[in-house]
Amino acid sequence: MIAQQPTLLPAHYRTLSVLEMETRVRDIRAQLGTKLFIPGHHYQKDEVIQFADATGDSLQLAQVAAANTEAEHIVFCGVHFMAETADMLTTKEQRVYLPDLRAGCSMADMATIYETEHAWETLQQLFGDTIIPLTYVNSTAAIKAFTGKHGGACVTSSNAKKMVAWAFTQKERLLFLPDQHLGRNTAFDLGVPLEQMAVWNPQTNELEAHCPIEDVKVILWKGHCSVHEGFTIHHVEKLRQTHPTMRILVHPECSHEVVAASDDCGSTKYIIDTIHAAPAGSAWAIGTEMNLVKRLIAQHPDLTIISLNENMCPCLTMNRIDLPHLLWTLERIINGEEGNVITVDERTAALARLSLERMLERA
Ligand code: 13P
Ligand code: SF4
Repeated sequence: MIAQQPTLLPAHYRTLSVLEMETRVRDIRAQLGTKLFIPGHHYQKDEVIQFADATGDSLQLAQVAAANTEAEHIVFCGVHFMAETADMLTTKEQRVYLPDLRAGCSMADMATIYETEHAWETLQQLFGDTIIPLTYVNSTAAIKAFTGKHGGACVTSSNAKKMVAWAFTQKERLLFLPDQHLGRNTAFDLGVPLEQMAVWNPQTNELEAHCPIEDVKVILWKGHCSVHEGFTIHHVEKLRQTHPTMRILVHPECSHEVVAASDDCGSTKYIIDTIHAAPAGSAWAIGTEMNLVKRLIAQHPDLTIISLNENMCPCLTMNRIDLPHLLWTLERIINGEEGNVITVDERTAALARLSLERMLERA
């Protein structure tokens, strides 16, 4: 699709004033009414999120996409795997658009279907039919289809515990893709000791285990989020010295070392809810994406909020969706152009939906 469509923003959009762009976006929204729906992930920039009809974390956005049967055009302000999920959960008549097709997710790209099929073959030889695959929604549609085909499901950071607990009722051990940190933190919370978690390294095609192979309960794919790996134990240690009374609240995509040394850990929604409920005057160091941290700072002048890493940047791919790209996409819709549409082929989507539905019915 990328080859067929002009993917780069026409240069003249960069010359428009913010006021001009905002006015044009508002006019198109008024013109399209309920035919248009704009979901926005919490990590999106304010210049975009101001136009979102619904904001949420990955789970909430999957749920709102599935619930919306009315809108013909769903302009997804988030990253590629989220738009794919929305496409798979909506009807054939509804079209899903991603305002910048370069807005991918480096974590999702860390598990390709070829690597995963290859790993599965080896793991079946090692463990027999004792493994259920679970995939974080931050994965390609092909990986979701793989998990669907093998009896597994999707998880998000909001329901990972529930889904991992369910997976253990199905099979003796699980393969968790593609984020080793969410997998490790969740399984640890459910009582699986760290030494019973092995790591599958797709670079070397090897299982890195620290216990006899028959004792392995969880196989973690060696993937990570480049944003959340930017919070290290050194940041925690430094903060404990400089701000000893500050509470440290991090996302479970952070390493286990960071999570264990922090005061609290939870999904994007959990972080937002915790800060909204925090007592006036309390102080927080947050380990998650910077656009969200900045928004929480602006919304809560009564709290002291900083990023756990003072040099943290926003997620670069989330940030590709900006006001000019949003306007461009809306104008393409109005002009009847074909651009920026995300479509998952029906064979992949049918299997991937099994994974998503197993999650949504338990979420
Ligand atoms: P959640 O929205 O599930 O917290 O995931 C965070 C994230 O990294 C999204 O890309
Ligand atoms: Fe991917 Fe991490 Fe960015 Fe989320 S924050 S889109 S997981 S790179």
